[in-house]
Amino acid sequence: EKNGFDHFMLKEIFEQPQTIFDSLRGRLDGGQQTITLSGVDKIADKLMAANRIIIVACGTSWHAGLLAEYVIEELCRINVEVEYASEFRYRNPIITDKDVIIAISQSGETADTLVAIETAKKQGATIFGLVNVVGSSIARLSDAGAYTHAGPEIGVASTKAFTAQLAVLYLIALKVAKVKNTITDDLYSVLVTDLVKVPEHVQQILETQDQNIREIAAKYTDARDFLYLGRGYNFPIALEGALKLKEISYIHAEGYPAAEMKHGPIALVDEHLPVVFVATKDSYHEKIVSNIQEIKARKGKVVAVVSEGDNTVTSLTDDVMVVPLVHEIIAPILSVVPLQLLSYYIGVNRGLDVDKPRNLAKSVTVE
Ligand code: F6R
Repeated sequence: EKNGFDHFMLKEIFEQPQTIFDSLRGRLDGGQQTITLSGVDKIADKLMAANRIIIVACGTSWHAGLLAEYVIEELCRINVEVEYASEFRYRNPIITDKDVIIAISQSGETADTLVAIETAKKQGATIFGLVNVVGSSIARLSDAGAYTHAGPEIGVASTKAFTAQLAVLYLIALKVAKVKNTITDDLYSVLVTDLVKVPEHVQQILETQDQNIREIAAKYTDARDFLYLGRGYNFPIALEGALKLKEISYIHAEGYPAAEMKHGPIALVDEHLPVVFVATKDSYHEKIVSNIQEIKARKGKVVAVVSEGDNTVTSLTDDVMVVPLVHEIIAPILSVVPLQLLSYYIGVNRGLDVDKPRNLAKSVTVE
């Protein structure tokens, strides 16, 4: 059932061109440039009138929510708050019937997320579920929703569910922005075009980078700590890259906003510390280039995810993982793929059970 792959995690990473395609299929029409999401239509009035959207989730799904905050605020001009479900449910948050809550969950059974939306629902909020497992508790409790079509995810570390979540979150943001008229026709068209191409771009990354990333992984298998840095849309991807590495390789890793490094973590940098930059081309690219220079000046090892054709970063770094150049809003769904592979190969090199890391459960149904 692993389809010739050594582990479910690798199989699931390689399934992403298909699972992203499946999550967009029947929803995104690239030719007409239309987006159909009946769950969004169902709560359209609420969404248009919403004072804010609150996203609740845990772990990797929370990282998808963090990216959604950046994207929805930019494109839809709606205030978004992203909450760890476990914090939200216990801290007596202020919720009204004007709030729309998006609950993101692969399993649909995460206890903290489930209780968080139960509580919010009682206070009148409208619940939109973004869930992978059909008929799961969170799906059933939601007023409306959209399924990710990632298929069963067996590997404990979430990979294909995450990119499916991002794909659907992009659709939601674009659809709402279009209806609210907060996006220009030009930008809408660019983003739709890039989104349609994500499956083939992910395929291209898998084909061109797999061997390269194996070699990079071999160099860093014995590292004790890792730092992952990114800015803007790539910041949630830095967090996700670090989480994947921790889970799979048991190497301590921290994700940080690149500019925050100066406020503490830079003290960790020496010739033993690999720093992974998510440094694809964006509107503040020169800022991340100078962050890379700061690490190099302190002899840190720099591994970077870069856009195809970006020689500036390539010339500064020890190792690069290349992804196709797309609009900065869509780039994160591509940038995460090399980081999944990097943690997979480091975990395998360390002889660990990558599909079932110690102490972790696939779905956390206890608090
Ligand atoms: C990370 C991972 C966990 C889950 C988290 C939420 O690889 O798998 O962090 O993302 O437990 O799970 P769901 O999405 O099922 O609510």
